[in-house]
Amino acid sequence: MNNNKQYPERFIESIRCPNCGSGAKQGFQFNDLHCTQCGTNHFSLGDVPCLFPAGTHHKIIWQHQTATMQYMAQQGLAALHESLSRYDLTSTTRQRLAQIQSASQVNLNTILSLLQKHGIDPIPDEQLNQMNPGDLSEYFDLLLRDWAWDSTSNANPENTAALQRTLAEIQKLPNKPRRILVLGAGAGRLSWDLHVHLKPEYTVALDSNPLVLAAANELVHQRQSIAIGEFKNFPQIGFQHAQNWLLEPPLDVDNLRATWFPLGANVWQLPFERDSFDLIVTPWFIDVNGGDVRDLIGVVYEKLIPGGHWLNSGPLLFTRHLPVQLKYSAAEIKELISLSGFALVNETIANTDYLRSPLEARFRQEQVWTFSATKPQSPMTIPAVDGALEPWLIMHHQPIPQGSYASQDSHPLIDAILLLVDGSRSINDICYEIGPHLPQDVPVKDVVVTLFGQILSEQSNGV
Ligand SMILES: C[S@@+](CC[C@H](N)C(=O)[O-])C[C@H]1O[C@@H](n2cnc3c(N)ncnc32)[C@H](O)[C@@H]1O
Repeated sequence: MNNNKQYPERFIESIRCPNCGSGAKQGFQFNDLHCTQCGTNHFSLGDVPCLFPAGTHHKIIWQHQTATMQYMAQQGLAALHESLSRYDLTSTTRQRLAQIQSASQVNLNTILSLLQKHGIDPIPDEQLNQMNPGDLSEYFDLLLRDWAWDSTSNANPENTAALQRTLAEIQKLPNKPRRILVLGAGAGRLSWDLHVHLKPEYTVALDSNPLVLAAANELVHQRQSIAIGEFKNFPQIGFQHAQNWLLEPPLDVDNLRATWFPLGANVWQLPFERDSFDLIVTPWFIDVNGGDVRDLIGVVYEKLIPGGHWLNSGPLLFTRHLPVQLKYSAAEIKELISLSGFALVNETIANTDYLRSPLEARFRQEQVWTFSATKPQSPMTIPAVDGALEPWLIMHHQPIPQGSYASQDSHPLIDAILLLVDGSRSINDICYEIGPHLPQDVPVKDVVVTLFGQILSEQSNGV
């Protein structure tokens, strides 16, 4: 695989083993994707480093997802084949089915060969069959939106609008970003466009989905085009039923791709040390990462340098399975931002088309909330927020200030938790330390938050 990536020293120094947190000095070898400290072997997807806590075991999930996708696609193709062999079809129906069959076959061939080229074979896993690890092609349409519907011969304004929205915010920032992290970068178009416009020292395009990562790498780094079929489940009057597209590598005469780094990782176990980036972008991400926005704010805060900026752009279309208490409104998120120590700089709200295919009469409109927030150079006094006993009780990454925390109840676990308060540990840090000593079914965070919540409310009631 043609690898012209030039990882700067600074990038390599900031990388951490996602399993044990070791950096280069403690034994994490980025070049070999191996951690001598915890013994975890990591792997690459083609030449895209993949840093997950389970190391190479994570590949088993991707292989299983590939096998599932292959099985489903083959089932669909077999059904089409069966239909096309019937005698009771008119030519018009036959033509429609044949177009869909052709596009579907192109996709299967392309996805399998792309992933195989990147080292992922379709291998089913019995245990994962019971667990349903998710659909590999969930974000397939992003490949089309990012690289097919928008070409010189077939302009599509969605990508341009996304770039303009983010650039407009970045231009208001006091400094040009040098080290950029894009979380949930998808098929990579926005992170690539930002990289080309801003020419930073480097940009990391991080995602946990191997299909979008491999496609972005194939286009931008391998300079190979990708054939993709698009077909619609419902006929649209006056539109084609299917189309085969050729996704082309973006122009890059200045070899800017040498410092644009796709990275396989999970946002909840980010393989970077704290204070690693001066701009973190979350495009269409805060609502679909499988976790709590307040924790994501903590992650972003930790990985930004003091004075660094967080730029968010996207809707609040939280995934279906997220409990209602985590589907925060914009007003709640602004409170969480403020309680975390960030200063909200600017915000805009716009309605925009989303994944508007040239093959569809219908399209979605999304309400896109774009904002930027700055991490102060030094911790500032956090403004009071109604109902919040203390910022650190709500934003679990904030250090718990030293003080007298005494509980009316007596228990060795309570004593152990209170002993850990040292002015720098947060609720997350305390959970991390005591978690391994508690039975697995004990909800550690709930225990710690409830304990401090009771202490604080007793104090405020003068008990
Ligand atoms: C809605 S898509 C947005 C993609 C891209 N930012 C865009 O605007 O087109 C969300 C992306 O986040 C990725 N993602 C979701 N959860 C993630 C996680 N926990 N860690 C890393 N990536 C994640 C998905 O694989 C997907 O590519």
